[in-house]
Amino acid sequence: MITTKTMTLAANYSDLPVRAGYAVNINDIEIALFKVTNGRVYAIENHSPHPKGGVLTEGLVSGEYVYCPVYDWKISLVDGKVQAPDTGQVKTFQVEVEGDNVYIII
Ligand code: FES
Repeated sequence: MITTKTMTLAANYSDLPVRAGYAVNINDIEIALFKVTNGRVYAIENHSPHPKGGVLTEGLVSGEYVYCPVYDWKISLVDGKVQAPDTGQVKTFQVEVEGDNVYIII
């Protein structure tokens, strides 16, 4: 099966706060963008994998991790993996930054 990926303009790089979440909705998917201290931008699904589904843009960012605001699970912004002792994974999306444009590839 051939799947087509689309590059969608999600935000302006200069509008993204450092170490805080920025929510966007693309194709009815709620995505959390995070600009970390080193300037990289990550995009992950905006819900914790926990049944309570905490909103990750409300979480605290430390390095390349976000802490879910509800139960404090530590989630990697790089691969979406929940760190031990908790388990689970959040979907991640590829990000391209071109000038001031931040694109998400879905
Ligand atoms: S809602 Fe449970 S860890 Fe986020």
